[in-house]
Amino acid sequence: MYAYDEIDRTLVNERVSEFRDQVKRRLSGELTEDEFKILRLQNGVYLQLHAYMFRVAIPYGTLSSDQLRRLAHIARRYDRGYGHFTTRQNIQFNWIKLAELPDALADLAEVGIHAMQTSGNNMRNVTSDQWAGVAPGEIEDPRIWSELLRQHTTLHPEFSFLPRKFKIAITASDHDRAAIKIHDIGLRLVKNEKGETGFEVLVGGGLGRTPFIAKTIKHFVHGRDILSYVEAILRVYNQYGRRDNIYKARIKILVHELGIEKFSREVEDEWQHIRGSSLQIDDEVIEDIRSRFSYPAYEKLPHMPDELRQAAADPAFEAWRKNSVASHKVQGYSIVTISLKPVGGPPGDATAEQMDALADLAEKYSFGEIRVGHEQNLALPHVAKRDLPALWRALDKLGLATPNVNLISDIIACPGLDYCSLANARSIPIAQELTRRFANHELANLIGRLHINISGCINACGHHHVGHIGILGVEKNGEEVYQITIGGRADENAALGNLIGPGVKFEEVADVIEDVVEAYLALRERPEELFIDTVKRLGVEPFKERVYATR
Ligand code: HEM
Ligand code: SF4
Repeated sequence: MYAYDEIDRTLVNERVSEFRDQVKRRLSGELTEDEFKILRLQNGVYLQLHAYMFRVAIPYGTLSSDQLRRLAHIARRYDRGYGHFTTRQNIQFNWIKLAELPDALADLAEVGIHAMQTSGNNMRNVTSDQWAGVAPGEIEDPRIWSELLRQHTTLHPEFSFLPRKFKIAITASDHDRAAIKIHDIGLRLVKNEKGETGFEVLVGGGLGRTPFIAKTIKHFVHGRDILSYVEAILRVYNQYGRRDNIYKARIKILVHELGIEKFSREVEDEWQHIRGSSLQIDDEVIEDIRSRFSYPAYEKLPHMPDELRQAAADPAFEAWRKNSVASHKVQGYSIVTISLKPVGGPPGDATAEQMDALADLAEKYSFGEIRVGHEQNLALPHVAKRDLPALWRALDKLGLATPNVNLISDIIACPGLDYCSLANARSIPIAQELTRRFANHELANLIGRLHINISGCINACGHHHVGHIGILGVEKNGEEVYQITIGGRADENAALGNLIGPGVKFEEVADVIEDVVEAYLALRERPEELFIDTVKRLGVEPFKERVYATR
């Protein structure tokens, strides 16, 4: 856990009173909705189809049990009793009333949570691996660097009026759980030959209307230089980014238009001016941040406790353990992923009761800590293996033990037409139907790792481009039509999917996905060949032939 210092607490509190005054002026009519827009967008407040939507940041996806309880309180007191965890380590409340927003922000501020820079053309929440600090083989805890960037960029005037929003993600593991290649800047912690810590820097990734996979701009930037290097990138973007055309304003378009070589030369020139400046980070600064992260006092525990051995006889427990429990860097402990994808439920939603109960379980079994991942699931990062059976029983009672992590019903979906004013089509009902179709656990396991991502319009909030199967809702002659892609992925081998054929109607989507899966089961070379690898080996054609043969 990270403990905010006095500067952060003051900043967050001042922001609450500032926003209270802005809301008051909007409610009295002194400010028009247009004048208010720029102010609310600095505080995570959108105006949606039915109501204001409020997006709250969960820096690098780490929450304390007190903070999760407070989110439950917000859901219960100011919203309709649930919250929606998003793909960028935020939580959204969909039914918030403007007059009550300042109170909600004040309640959050008491536990060090805020909504600054969760919308608007600024530096957004710097995200990281939800297993940060506990993943075996990690170079070091990437959250230290996320926190450094968070501090440097929060309310920084130079980054508050960028041509467009700006997203950074950091990972320190070989397997990229933070999806750094679809971010404006992706940072991967690496060591150089001297054993010093630094970063591989990637730039220009993003989804939306014009998707790009980020490219490496520099293979090694020393840790002490990372602020100046990121700032150099932002300065080049600020100078050349297209402010005249919203569709061309993201850095991915600039990188594409200049070409990565020219773009990196510009960054290099800029960097030479500023790298030795006060932006160079002293070791003490890093040490200070490091010291504000607290780590649990782990016990010395056996690798295979009796409790676990006994529980192995229960097939339901074993199914969950094999699916949702991962290795921890400390012997005797595990990382437990909590699926927010129950059969028939909207992906990523949690009720206030579930959040409260999970906060209690985190205190009992995970040193009071909860994590939020980009796949819209939660995790308990430090569970002693002996406690796994008891934890599982408690989670099961709460409807939080669906053993479908990374399987076909672990779907990422945006809010779509149910909430979003930009949507062309529904996303959540498609996800719900698919979870029903693939509810059978044996079938899902037979299919193996398969990610379905759904967006309700081209803005791609549901990451459809990088789903192993991507589903994009568009509008055609007043009807919802869905385009289906296969072969995308968001990890270290990130790739964009390819269309498999003409769009299909709402009612047909689940049938088509079943056909895609059937084609895969027939085409795979052996049971261990994952869907994504079969698509890579064979391309789109054999799938297209089979799926569209009878349509
Ligand atoms: C309901 C209100 C929402 C609105 C109005 C909205 C709006 C947008 C827009 C306009 C874009 C495209 C930006 C661009 O390419 O420049 C976008 C992208 C994105 N949104 Fe949303 N969004 C909403 C909800 C969500 C939710 C619930 C999630 C997470 C599940 C989300 C995550 C993202 C992500 C990850 C991107 C994408 C990719 C990128 O930055 O390249 N958004 N959103
Ligand atoms: S992808 Fe489109 S429909 Fe879905 S949340 Fe984003 S803007 Fe709304």
